[in-house]
Amino acid sequence: PIRSRPGFGGIGFEGIEPNTRALDPNLIDDVRLPPGYSYQVLYRWGDPIGALGQRPGEPAWRDDASNDSIDQTLQSGDHHDGMHFFPLPGRLGSSRGLLCVNHEYNDQLFLFPDGMDTWNIEKVRKSQHAHGVSIVAVWRHPRTGRWEVKRPSPFARRIHGNTPMQITGPAAGDDLLKTAADPTGTRVLGTLNNCAHGYTPWGTYLTCEENWNGYFANPTGDVEGLPGNDQKLEILAGQTRYGITQTGFGYRWHEHDARFRADLNPNEPHRFGYVVEIDPYSPRSMPKKRTALGRCKHENAEHVVAANGRVVLYTGDDERNEYIYKFVTAGSYNPRNRRTNMDLLDEGTLYVAKFNDDGTGEWLELTPNNPALDNWTQAEICIRTRQAADAVGATMMDRPEWIAADPMAPANVYCTLTNNSNRGRSGIPTGNNPDGTTNAGSARPPVNNANPRGGDADTTGPVPVPTGNVYGHIIRWHEDDDDNTSPTFTWDIFVLAGDSTRTDPRLQGNTIGDDFNSPDGLWFDGAGRLWIQTDATTSGSSYNPGGLNENIGTNQMLCADPESGEIRRFLTGPRGCEVTGVVTTPDRKTMFVNFQHPGEGGTTTNPTAISDWPDRGPRPRSATIVITRDDGGEIGGL
Ligand code: FEO
Ligand code: CA
Ligand code: CA
Ligand code: CA
Repeated sequence: PIRSRPGFGGIGFEGIEPNTRALDPNLIDDVRLPPGYSYQVLYRWGDPIGALGQRPGEPAWRDDASNDSIDQTLQSGDHHDGMHFFPLPGRLGSSRGLLCVNHEYNDQLFLFPDGMDTWNIEKVRKSQHAHGVSIVAVWRHPRTGRWEVKRPSPFARRIHGNTPMQITGPAAGDDLLKTAADPTGTRVLGTLNNCAHGYTPWGTYLTCEENWNGYFANPTGDVEGLPGNDQKLEILAGQTRYGITQTGFGYRWHEHDARFRADLNPNEPHRFGYVVEIDPYSPRSMPKKRTALGRCKHENAEHVVAANGRVVLYTGDDERNEYIYKFVTAGSYNPRNRRTNMDLLDEGTLYVAKFNDDGTGEWLELTPNNPALDNWTQAEICIRTRQAADAVGATMMDRPEWIAADPMAPANVYCTLTNNSNRGRSGIPTGNNPDGTTNAGSARPPVNNANPRGGDADTTGPVPVPTGNVYGHIIRWHEDDDDNTSPTFTWDIFVLAGDSTRTDPRLQGNTIGDDFNSPDGLWFDGAGRLWIQTDATTSGSSYNPGGLNENIGTNQMLCADPESGEIRRFLTGPRGCEVTGVVTTPDRKTMFVNFQHPGEGGTTTNPTAISDWPDRGPRPRSATIVITRDDGGEIGGL
């Protein structure tokens, strides 16, 4: 067992073997845990949420994927990601609560009986409704002791790609947010690509819009309905900067829903890319897109309440060469009056991080007070956040994913930098946009101390080294004066991920303990254990016996001691999945973990080619599982 510091809950399990071909030639298609731990499946794509007015168990999941778009609004969305458990009031706070689960995107090949054939508006709607958030009531059944979704529940709710929501904060009502359907620039339909999450001390859920650009397409490379040519060029440059292309990512919504035509509705993309606040306890409340936190491809939103009561939120922009942001509220959190906190996130100061090579860092202000932005409005900064961050000279990072603050020392903040195939590459990238330009993701920044590994592909050694930062790393910073509102910080690298059997320094890493690839999910439990979840690509590498994951295996979750740096593997996932999203009940005896896209790589005609987890039925399904200890103890603890 590990017991490193006063108050630390300790790590009481031994790390498990990776799920590699050395263990099983076919890889084990199941969740594996240390001895003494068990899991059950709780909530899968297509499971009914238990909405009021539905008969129990309705609308039932059909395993040929023939549920229609209306059914999908009453069933779990797809591709589970970040999540949080909100206890219900009373003594039973660790036995019943509301689980908020993000549904990031979907594999449309699996979403319909015939995949993407006969593409039509009904299929587009089902796909849109498989995105967003689930709010479901869950409880440990008092008789069976098993966790269940409680059906029906007045709290059960789906928020999806067509749910009306309000736009709030500095950008609300700005001309750049006005559309023909919404001349006020304050009402938008839907939240999309809900990746990771956050929550607030006043009991609201934050869902973060990540790769929303992929739903839009600009097939003509032009824009309509703008008064001036300068404006038009600026809008097109913005589409390029955020990665909107002629075709999108293959969702094909724009073919039947003109809202996603970025040429016909050039302001609609400005209405995505935000942190969205949802009150799970108020089932009829309207979600709010909080523009004050900026517009990017938000991964998660981690909060710390500073000593003066201001709420600090950290958020990364997950794309190659993007930035890490911090938002500090103008007002203070009032623990005695929930209502006064409900719009705290609309006013405050946005910053972006600069990591100096000497181990110091600065939070650069993204307001017109910054001389580099003195002719910008705050609304424009909150919409064109990436361009504002470019203008002030922030540090391009290796794909900032989750951020987590240590509950025992909240000025210590950790961020996963998952990988970056363009770090340190030579040459000039070729244009990947309709106009031949490149977006920042295609830049090739040199290695620096905060992003220390990269370079060209190297096939001269015993193991081929791909381009850039291959396995990723975890950076951490310490806010000066132990104050999360501080404008300055110091930083170091917590761990370089890698394969300890490799000798090439770009592949080896410096893990104390178990190896992993591409850290992504990152979460501290209340006892100070740092949980790390991985998202190494499954396109090839997880299934390629000679690939980068040969000794690392399928995606997994590990537990780190932030003080000693020791890391132990707690869980390995089924084939083709990413492990993302973790939370426990307040007593830490029940843990919820999400598995996204098990079976990735299967086809319409053979959905289970890679995995048939969890049903062993005709198609794999993203799912939330519940982990408990057979002796009833604390998950991960001694
Ligand atoms: Fe949706 Fe960056 O993970
Ligand atoms: Ca992620
Ligand atoms: Ca990822
Ligand atoms: Ca994902």
